[in-house]
Amino acid sequence: MKPFPFLRSAIGVCLVAAAHQLSAETVWVDTLDLKTAIQDYGTATSKVSLDGNPLMIAGRTFARGFATHAEGWLAIQLDGKARTFSAQVGIDDEVKGKPGGTAEFVVLGDEVKLWSSGLMRLGDAAKTCEVPLAGVKRLELVVTDGEDNNYYDHANWAEAKIETDGATTFATIARISGVPYILTPPAPASPRINGASVFGVRPGSPFLFTVPVTGQRPMTFSASGLPEGLQINAQSGRITGRLAVAGTFAVTLRAENALGRAEKKFRIICGERIALTPPMGWNSWNCFAGEVTADRVKRAADTLVKTGLINHGWTYINVDDFWQNHRGSKDPTLTGPTRDAQGNIQPNVRFGDMKALADYVHELGLKIGLYSSPGPWTCGGCAGSYGHELQDAQAYAEWGFDYLKYDWCSYGGIADGLAADDPKVPSVHWGKGESDLAIAQAPYALMGEALHRQPRDIVYSLCQYGMSDVWKWGDTVGGHSWRTTNDISGTWKSMSGIALAQDKAAPFAQPGNWNDPDMLILGYIGWGNPQPTRLTPDEQYLHFSLWCLFSSPLLIGCDMEKLDDFTLSLLTNDEVIAINQDPLGRQATCVDTVGDVRVYLKKLEDGSVAVGFCNFGRQPAELKYERFAHLGLSGRHTVRDLWRQQEVGTIEAGRDGWPLTIPTHGIVLVKIAPVPVPPAQASATPAPASTKLPAKP
Ligand code: GLA
Repeated sequence: MKPFPFLRSAIGVCLVAAAHQLSAETVWVDTLDLKTAIQDYGTATSKVSLDGNPLMIAGRTFARGFATHAEGWLAIQLDGKARTFSAQVGIDDEVKGKPGGTAEFVVLGDEVKLWSSGLMRLGDAAKTCEVPLAGVKRLELVVTDGEDNNYYDHANWAEAKIETDGATTFATIARISGVPYILTPPAPASPRINGASVFGVRPGSPFLFTVPVTGQRPMTFSASGLPEGLQINAQSGRITGRLAVAGTFAVTLRAENALGRAEKKFRIICGERIALTPPMGWNSWNCFAGEVTADRVKRAADTLVKTGLINHGWTYINVDDFWQNHRGSKDPTLTGPTRDAQGNIQPNVRFGDMKALADYVHELGLKIGLYSSPGPWTCGGCAGSYGHELQDAQAYAEWGFDYLKYDWCSYGGIADGLAADDPKVPSVHWGKGESDLAIAQAPYALMGEALHRQPRDIVYSLCQYGMSDVWKWGDTVGGHSWRTTNDISGTWKSMSGIALAQDKAAPFAQPGNWNDPDMLILGYIGWGNPQPTRLTPDEQYLHFSLWCLFSSPLLIGCDMEKLDDFTLSLLTNDEVIAINQDPLGRQATCVDTVGDVRVYLKKLEDGSVAVGFCNFGRQPAELKYERFAHLGLSGRHTVRDLWRQQEVGTIEAGRDGWPLTIPTHGIVLVKIAPVPVPPAQASATPAPASTKLPAKP
């Protein structure tokens, strides 16, 4: 039998906690340390469902067992001391009436599949799982999302227990995935100006751009060519002010420290378009989900500055769902009026003063974002903007917010004709918006107009998962970015599946309009239970590189206070980020396929191309690449390895093949630029290709 693909990455054994003993022969899994379980939503619960109810499958309740969520994983170290594993598996009845609720339960012993439930749906009777375990060292209990999505996949391993051969204690295992290797060279101590080279602003809007510069502090900043109305602070490097009239202004940015000086050309375009390069920042959802607080947001902002991420162009601090009060939560920090008597939206007590929060973030030289829904409720069941769109847009502007993510969710109920105060309006429901273009567009146009009327620039991020081909019309409703997909989860399957589906929207990417394949799943992520990402280091290189090639908004989703050196190295490679921020604003597409290797190419403003050789296969790929015509290349070109920031030689398109080694689920990311041929040499015989990329450390 093949090893289960979900678990190909290396497993690091870290004995976390001992089990309690019930009898010498039976160890109930619900007594083990379930904190090591990995799952896409919430945390594994002992003896109760994910939402804290009695475990119930198709009307049958169970006193013992544990609950998890697809995609879920729990591993137990057995060391050959177990005889059998048994359980009653199925979807918990608590998700009745919700979309999704399908999963497959899989049992692995030493990476070999021993049992599978097949696809299970909500309402299916519990299936009995009985697996002999003689000699098995490591048991893994896996729940997949059933090949659709992970929505409401509340999965119960009821009555899960291990019969032992005398062992009285087992430990669960924490997973690590591969050995990280850092390619990004440290930034030089002398100044280097990074980030976007073009910036859009509307006339009259407050201007804030913090020049991102790496290098030793203290540093002084200056700029020439700044139009009237703008000034740069010599100590902080922040450009602030307002522009009264539209126009394009060529500016030179300068930074100087004891070791040297740097200079960069920068264009300010004052007009109707903003977000001229993809927004870069952090969002609270993938780590904190419903546990977000103002304090956590402030700490994320502080960390973005302290770690130096701000010096690479990372700018937005975005609060996702759960800053508002909730429709029915018993959590006292989410209970309270959703609006005051005048209809003004009320933040919950975790947030309190939204203006103070925005001021705090601006003081750091950063920008701040917020989340709402066009329906009466957000996806998490908090207050949405339905019927209060203009009032909410005004509140965001008065508080000083710079970004709005606007989620579809309960608008599906409105689209289906339910009254906003109907308790049957579901929090997550697609409704007629999926098939009716006018219905899909209406709520986004309404909020787009409301934001446009505000006296500040608010980046408008549509979050409706790509319904009705949003990329074709997102611009017309005032959108600057739009999700092209359902939510990303923390797995290779989710990330790679999303990546492979991006080409259809690519022609619609342009300055001010970005396709959004969802947030980054690097670092500690986990929707309320942050754990190290499940992606291997190679998968992480591939993930970040592809999101850069796609000109995707780059939103870090992790717990910023747990950033490790490797994750930081992925997020601070200025040459890779420059691909994302390229002012031409093209999105890479797949231009060639060689076996499992897909070749993505993005045209850049300077006439060069960024090319990613992406290995989606399960083995390292060795190839001699020859099909330069697919890359649109002819003649001689220089090749630069972007992760290592090194020239690696030249290629002569149409002559020798180019030897490439691409790690499993990894990438070779290069920039290829034509070598200008001086007229006198044009007819000389070109030298053979000399490019050999360094091997992975
Ligand atoms: C949806 C979005 C997520 C997040 C949650 C909040 O699922 O796609 O990114 O904003 O809602 O509830």
